[in-house]
Amino acid sequence: MAVKLIEKYLAGLVSPDEIQKMAGEVQAAHQMLHEGTGAGSEFRGWLDLPVSYDREEYTRLKKAASWIRQNAQVLLVIGIGGSYLGARAAVEFLKSPFYNNFKKETPDIYFVGNSLSPTYLREVIGLCSGREVAINVVSKSGTTTEPAVAFRQLKEYMEARYGQEAAKRIFCTTDRKKGALKSLADKMGYETFVVPDDVGGRYSVLTPVGLLPMAVAGIDTDRVLEGAAQARSQLMNSSLEENPCYRYAAIRNLLYRRGKAIELLVSYEPAFAMMAQWYIQLFGESEGKEGKGLYPSCASFSTDLHSMGQFIQQGTPLLFETVVDILEPKMDFFIRTNDSNFDGLNFLAEQNLSAINRKAMEGTILAHTAGGVPNLVLQMQKIDEENFGYFVYFMEKACAISGYLLGVNPFDQPGVEQYKQNMFALLGKPGYEALRDQLESQLNKL
Ligand code: PA5
Repeated sequence: MAVKLIEKYLAGLVSPDEIQKMAGEVQAAHQMLHEGTGAGSEFRGWLDLPVSYDREEYTRLKKAASWIRQNAQVLLVIGIGGSYLGARAAVEFLKSPFYNNFKKETPDIYFVGNSLSPTYLREVIGLCSGREVAINVVSKSGTTTEPAVAFRQLKEYMEARYGQEAAKRIFCTTDRKKGALKSLADKMGYETFVVPDDVGGRYSVLTPVGLLPMAVAGIDTDRVLEGAAQARSQLMNSSLEENPCYRYAAIRNLLYRRGKAIELLVSYEPAFAMMAQWYIQLFGESEGKEGKGLYPSCASFSTDLHSMGQFIQQGTPLLFETVVDILEPKMDFFIRTNDSNFDGLNFLAEQNLSAINRKAMEGTILAHTAGGVPNLVLQMQKIDEENFGYFVYFMEKACAISGYLLGVNPFDQPGVEQYKQNMFALLGKPGYEALRDQLESQLNKL
């Protein structure tokens, strides 16, 4: 297994018997997911993506990535939510959070259109100066305001810089048929890639949404898909005893029933920080509805032990931790004995820094568990493409099963849609006049 679940730090809050009692519910959730009888069943395309992706499109995607690598020093990825988090997480986790700062053969990658900050956009445009640029604009709906506004500015920028050639440098990832972006791409002749109809934004990292930026960064996407395919076959088993993904979903659901309404996803590897943001969107949008759901949050240790550690251990007892334990770091540091022992740290010497990081993790788990904070551990051997693909699939499936255990549709996002509609209305988008009047009168009454 590329992800191992360790359950021994549950602080006595959940017993093995109680977990086993969830078998029937988990079996039912498994059936809903695999037989398509649950809510949102039309969005289960991600389940088979690692083995049933469009081969012709995938070959074209690799060619486009290679063209971008040869013809651009900067790739701007425009997208928000599920249309950028997975790609950014992959680049930072598999390459480095310092990816853009390293000397390399592949382009720098900047993620834009994920806020409405003019300063951010201007600064990124400034970074393009004197360097060849390509754009990947990603939006499943093709209408989301943040990426649409950024693309309008960047399209103008590209046309001013490259004239006719701009169209060759713009790649769109969007719906197969509908949306403003698809119509524009067809009109302008941009190369397009498809977000399949049956894959929602936050489950789309293994589609061209994530795969094109990953391939541009030099990530081996074949290996990512192989890892995910391995997870798909290993996590198919409906038995709660044998499926760690289902056990994880069941235990977090039991903890929620015990009043632990916040899950804190913890890692001791800073490169995991964007992975945690991807997890937050995945679980937050999938579970948080109808007045229910675990609140997904994250922390990077040991950094945040010096800011949040106190609260986590002894504050309001609302949370449990899920620790992502990566056994082998990509690099290590050997700490030698120093003759003068000027800093009194010789007790740490003759071992790797990673061993000290592990001790920090073990000590923290014990301290937090003693404080009544249950800990689950998801163990991963190392940071590589297969483990990334496996972890993504593991979390997506755990999330879908968690949604069904809670009794919600894990594939819709009515709250996000409402905010999008309100924004369209308040900004005066044609067709939204009635909603605009209603919202303005609400605002006036407040
Ligand atoms: O998961 C989701 O569906 C959302 O978070 C979307 O990813 C996000 O709102 C961006 O939407 P779009 O890709 O349509 O621009």
